[in-house]
Amino acid sequence: MSMRVYLDHNATSPVDPAVAERMAHVLRESFGNPSSIHTFGQRARALLDEARAAVAALIGAREGDVVFTGGGTESDNYAIRGVAEALETVGRRHLIATAIEHEAVLNTLKALARRGWRTTLLPVGPSGIVSRDALDTALTDDTALVSVMLANNEVGTIQPVAELAARAHARGALVHTDAVQAAGKVPVDVTGLGVDLLSLSAHKLNGPKGVGALWIRRGVRLQRLTAGGRQERGRRAGTENVPGIVGFGVAAALAREKLPAAGTLGILRDRLERGILSAVPGTVVNGIEPRVPNTTNISFDRVEAESLLIALDLEGIAVSTGSACSSGTLEPSHVLKAMGFPAHRTQNSIRFSLGAGNDEAQIDRTIEVLPRIVDKLRSLTRTTRQ
Ligand SMILES: Cc1ncc(COP(=O)(O)O)c(C=O)c1O
Repeated sequence: MSMRVYLDHNATSPVDPAVAERMAHVLRESFGNPSSIHTFGQRARALLDEARAAVAALIGAREGDVVFTGGGTESDNYAIRGVAEALETVGRRHLIATAIEHEAVLNTLKALARRGWRTTLLPVGPSGIVSRDALDTALTDDTALVSVMLANNEVGTIQPVAELAARAHARGALVHTDAVQAAGKVPVDVTGLGVDLLSLSAHKLNGPKGVGALWIRRGVRLQRLTAGGRQERGRRAGTENVPGIVGFGVAAALAREKLPAAGTLGILRDRLERGILSAVPGTVVNGIEPRVPNTTNISFDRVEAESLLIALDLEGIAVSTGSACSSGTLEPSHVLKAMGFPAHRTQNSIRFSLGAGNDEAQIDRTIEVLPRIVDKLRSLTRTTRQ
């Protein structure tokens, strides 16, 4: 049986065994509705409180300010729509985001643009890091919200969120950061970042899918997305996903404990990156430091990314092209496009994202098989073109 190597942790990460075990226990034993007054309900409520405390601790927040959602996408939707609609009456009808945000942010902005909001996407340039000057130019007295992701999912670049937040606040705008790809990989602290809203997703940090959180600074007014009951202090209607939220809580606590070891992942990532660059000619890394320690995005000259992904999969190595949402299409990555790269670089890129379970042997195996696969694909391309 050949070695299986999972290098797609930014798409999703394996559920930690401790998370799975706790969730299974809750599913079996703690079925109560947290809104019920009786003991069954109170037990479930206590589980939610415990999970909320663990998620809050991961981002240096007060637990009362954390709202559980159905994932990172919903958190992003809620933050942006919620602020846009709450501030509509005061006349702030302008929204800013970076051009390299996740689709959850970009498509929320598009939806609001169709309903009359003005939107601006900030350019990033080849560094993959948004410029402060671009934000200064874009900000107006009508700007309601600036949304800047903390770490990019495709290239891993870390944005200067704290500095950008200060500039946005000076113009009276609120600030949201999508920290889905940062949490568990680098320290995340809501006070240090100085933002008003922060999105998280459980399945990117070894928790379950379909669970996330939005941290909302106390006093920030948000229009709720869902009409219904008064769950989550009236912020999100619907009976809570108790097992999922408990799983998120366990994953968040583990992520916080393991954060000091994230540097080890950086050593593995660097080994992979250096190994590929030296073993495979015609390769280049997309994005510069600061980056999260688990991600490298590499373009392979004269190789179609999809073919490379499939060839690697046949060797038991799982990677991705650009973001998971846009794979399966030949659309170039919007992130690499925003970075201004030519087509051969935006279409030929592979994202390697490391995480729990990866080791040196797996990295060395990846470096070992790549030159052969790339050579083969390049020779096929040459033949087809003749
Ligand atoms: C930066 C970023 N934001 C949001 C999301 C969406 O999170 P979820 O899959 O929990 O909806 C993702 C996941 O791909 C992401 O990478």
